[in-house]
Amino acid sequence: MPAVVVIGGQWGDEGKGRVVDFHSQYCSVIARYSAGNNAGHTIINDRGKFALHLVPAGIFRGEKACIIGNGVVIDPAKLIEEIAMLTERGVSTARLMISEHAHVIMPWHPIIDRAEETLKGDLAIGTTGTGTGPAFYDKVGRIGIRVADLLDREFFAWKLRNALEYKNRVLQDLYHLPPLDYDTILTQYTEYGERMRPYVADTISYVQDADERGEFILLEGAQGSLLDLDTGTYPYVTSSVPASVAAGGAIGVGLGPTALERVVGVYKSYQTRVGNGPMPTEITSGDEMVMLREGTGGAAGTGEYGTTTGRARRVGWFDGVLARYTARLNGVTSVALTRLDSLSALESIKVCVAYELDDQRITTLPPTLRAMERAKPIYEELPGWGQDVTHVRHLGDLPTEARQYVRRIEQILGVQVDMISVGPERHQAIVTRDVFGGSIDV
Ligand code: GDP
Ligand code: IMO
Ligand code: MG
Repeated sequence: MPAVVVIGGQWGDEGKGRVVDFHSQYCSVIARYSAGNNAGHTIINDRGKFALHLVPAGIFRGEKACIIGNGVVIDPAKLIEEIAMLTERGVSTARLMISEHAHVIMPWHPIIDRAEETLKGDLAIGTTGTGTGPAFYDKVGRIGIRVADLLDREFFAWKLRNALEYKNRVLQDLYHLPPLDYDTILTQYTEYGERMRPYVADTISYVQDADERGEFILLEGAQGSLLDLDTGTYPYVTSSVPASVAAGGAIGVGLGPTALERVVGVYKSYQTRVGNGPMPTEITSGDEMVMLREGTGGAAGTGEYGTTTGRARRVGWFDGVLARYTARLNGVTSVALTRLDSLSALESIKVCVAYELDDQRITTLPPTLRAMERAKPIYEELPGWGQDVTHVRHLGDLPTEARQYVRRIEQILGVQVDMISVGPERHQAIVTRDVFGGSIDV
């Protein structure tokens, strides 16, 4: 059976974790394929509220295989912490598997992440400071350390000596920072390796075998397509290799591209962004900004604050130009529209349908950073619905104006909306079509 990829269609935090938690009931393998613990996926289900950074959101369905794929970079301390947290809260990690090919975030990576941001000055990206970017630089630079390396003490000792000699020169000569101690890292990371050993597996063969057996595989994306290194709003992007867009899903777990037949695009009903970079539909002050950030009129306690860093997210109106761009970029076949409830208190809602750029009307991504900064959104205004929708489970029970809003977004994207999320909890959704083709069990 084809694998289904779940991707973020905006700048991250669209609610991918929430959507994966729901859809994982239909499949037997759930795998993360890119990024590191810069990702933060919030899940609220019968087990409680969880913030996951590395473990796939399918972990709550005990019997399913959950894989951290070869495309992910792993901070072992953070992963061990996450496993301990899940165990403590009664969530089994017995079927968690870690790719032996995944790269490891080493102690110098978060240090370099922060130092780079300082050095960049006005060009600072506003990274999560987790060391994810620098771990990918090392992967591409072919000096990265992989999970399998940690399990071979002699080889790791040799590899670490070489890597650290080089990194200590970088830390001292370039950033004027103190060097790191070889013995301390060797002991600590060997210990981390032993803690991870029971989970380490040949996940590439596992996923390929599962595919051959015809099992449903769900690939959980991290970040959003507009943060993708190649196709996002460069340079204000993340560094994942493979890409955070759907095409990266195949490489990041070891499948061929023909296995990826369906792509679920997760879109928030408006726009958010954390970190720096252009955001044409941003609202920077006033009541509408506060209402969007706090989700006034929707589910309580779900304001727009980062799962990983706690930073207040920038907010704005739904950007139809960028959304259409990412729907096509990912080959989205099904849309999950989240946080519709968060718009409930607004009298009217704007949707950007084009940009004005240098006296021209355009409907595609502006070609340069400067052009994107100059692009002025052209809005359509739709009426709000002024009532709580968190309890709605059937499309027909949504207020007419809310249905109109969803239909307009569907038209802009050119793809059917199959899931409308009206709250952060597993069952707070209107599902009209199961992406795996089976019966719907909300
Ligand atoms: P992810 O990174 O794409 O998994 O998204 P995050 O978990 O970082 O951010 C999404 C936030 O929205 C989380 O706090 C979710 O609990 C919350 N959320 C998801 N879907 C809905 C929804 O339909 N309504 C509301 N109010 N909150 C939602
Ligand atoms: P999830 O999976 C939102 C952003 C950072 C910064 C830029 C680069 O939860 O949707 P990095 O630390 O990756 O080098 O930072 O990317 N960013 C995210 N924003 N959600 C994420 O992941 C993000 N991962 C990275 O804020 O702007
Ligand atoms: Mg997030």
